[in-house]
Amino acid sequence: MRTPDVVLCPGGPMLLRGDHVVQDAEGRTHETRRPVSAICRCLRSAELPWCDGTHVLLPDERRPR
Ligand code: FES
Repeated sequence: MRTPDVVLCPGGPMLLRGDHVVQDAEGRTHETRRPVSAICRCLRSAELPWCDGTHVLLPDERRPR
């Protein structure tokens, strides 16, 4: 079985493996060349589009599925 390139973490971010260009909600692009990058899905990060861990402070019902 292949290693997934994209992983949706229950209650947390989307993990991307490898190089990507991510477009945020305002249309700005962000390059990543890290082995694994975490994209915020809760929209509460202070570092959007990247996850800064804020999702762990949210109640379960406000976390991404
Ligand atoms: S998913 Fe981690 S801060 Fe939003």
